[in-house]
Amino acid sequence: MPTHLSADLLAHARAAKGFMPEDEGELLHRWARVRLPHGPALEVGTYCGKSAIWLGGAAREVGGTVFTVDHHRGSEENQAGWEHHDETLVDPALGLMDTLPTFRRTIHAAGLEEQVVAVVGRSETVGAWWRTPLSLLFIDGGHGVEPARADFRTWPRWVEADGVLVVHDVFPDPADGGRPPYEDIYLPALASGAFSEVEVVGSMRVLRRTSGDAGDPV
Ligand SMILES: C[S@@+](CC[C@H](N)C(=O)[O-])C[C@H]1O[C@@H](n2cnc3c(N)ncnc32)[C@H](O)[C@@H]1O
Repeated sequence: MPTHLSADLLAHARAAKGFMPEDEGELLHRWARVRLPHGPALEVGTYCGKSAIWLGGAAREVGGTVFTVDHHRGSEENQAGWEHHDETLVDPALGLMDTLPTFRRTIHAAGLEEQVVAVVGRSETVGAWWRTPLSLLFIDGGHGVEPARADFRTWPRWVEADGVLVVHDVFPDPADGGRPPYEDIYLPALASGAFSEVEVVGSMRVLRRTSGDAGDPV
């Protein structure tokens, strides 16, 4: 069985708009291959589908489903005037960011519509009704304090025993990047005693659920 993303999907992942370096994408793909046979994966923070290609590629190889949650209106840093704004992603009729059409084209072109399911809405709203155990949870949503805290309150409890929580943009050194994924997701997950770190690549942290099971509070 190949452990690398197939050449065709790698080309799609490279071409997709987004924020997922290749070594970190490979990490996601590898863990998704391990975990997807045990249950679905869920990503918080779809944007235009770059990381979803790495996850969906694993689902195509080993079977399984990847849910990806986003309101598609962009994070603070994606808004006009901010560092990561892309004006081609603004809906001209509304004057608002809308990454959903680009995501849909990206996933269609990659041939992953069967594996990757978009859930369109605010993370906390979707999560309030979520009840399905997750084999892999990838948090890459809003990077401000409030969205990071909300994602931590909402999602890690749904990781099943032995499942993994993967967190993006974890920077222990403030000189490297923003604090909330580190202070408000990664550190509390470890402090909860429910998760133990199993791998680090770049700003990605992989934590395995070593105590409790899906639905138990974290
Ligand atoms: C860093 S981007 C995700 C990057 C993506 N994983 C990739 O590979 O390119 C963060 C995304 O989270 C979404 N987001 C931010 N806060 C959110 C919230 N509260 N609910 C749902 N989506 C949110 C934004 O719309 C944005 O698309």
